[in-house]
Amino acid sequence: MEIIISQTAEESSVLAARVIARQVREKPDSVLGLATGSTPIRMYQELIRMHQEEGLDFSRVTTFNLDEYVGLPRTHDQSYYYFMQEQLFKYLNIPAANIHLPDGMAADIPAHCAEYEAQIQAAGGIDIQVLGIGSDGHIAFNEPTSSLSSRTRIKTLTEQTIEDNSRFFDGDETQVPRHCITMGIGTIMEARMNLLLAFGEGKAEAVVQTVEGPISSMIPASILQHHQSAKVFIDESAATKLKLKEYYKWVYAGKPEWQKDQ
Ligand code: PGA
Repeated sequence: MEIIISQTAEESSVLAARVIARQVREKPDSVLGLATGSTPIRMYQELIRMHQEEGLDFSRVTTFNLDEYVGLPRTHDQSYYYFMQEQLFKYLNIPAANIHLPDGMAADIPAHCAEYEAQIQAAGGIDIQVLGIGSDGHIAFNEPTSSLSSRTRIKTLTEQTIEDNSRFFDGDETQVPRHCITMGIGTIMEARMNLLLAFGEGKAEAVVQTVEGPISSMIPASILQHHQSAKVFIDESAATKLKLKEYYKWVYAGKPEWQKDQ
């Protein structure tokens, strides 16, 4: 794992966006795995800026999102489909046909999940997968004790996640769906690069367990220790519990510029 600590979430977001921009420039038909939640929003804004001001071209890019709530239509303002349109897609030039999210209204959920996996394969696999992390260590909606080799499937949200996400539903936990469709941990591990973002002290415990703890399904993100190319972008407050914090900073500071967005 490569741990990149910045003073602020703002700086982390810009650095992470540069990794994605380099990927898209080098391979214009890249396949990007995208995430929702509050964490990647600033990074998406930087990608939008690069598209608008620097001509970063997404016209051949394909995307697959990690997850979606079951039972929310795409028009619902808390559906992840809606979120992605509002936060990113409406500003970029990705063809609509290249954009994929699980369908929370699918009639046959197992068949839909299998089809989603097949679409990722048919696209050639994911080049860079963007990840947030839950305060309980989840990635996508793979909650603690999820199989570390799971595939796209329906999952039940934990009470903690429902509580965390209720802020998007006017603070009303009863409005948060109980189920979701999520890429599996096995699916995520097949991405050629994983790029995890975590900001704020509320993520510090999940971050230290992910980076320095034992690999365990109790902290699903810890499986990234097994990934050959996992970058973890965190701000100072998410880094407070890391034992080797100064070492990670020293390593990153010593990198040649060309290697920083590889
Ligand atoms: P957040 O969610 O970005 O809103 O903190 C991350 C997650 O639950 O995976």
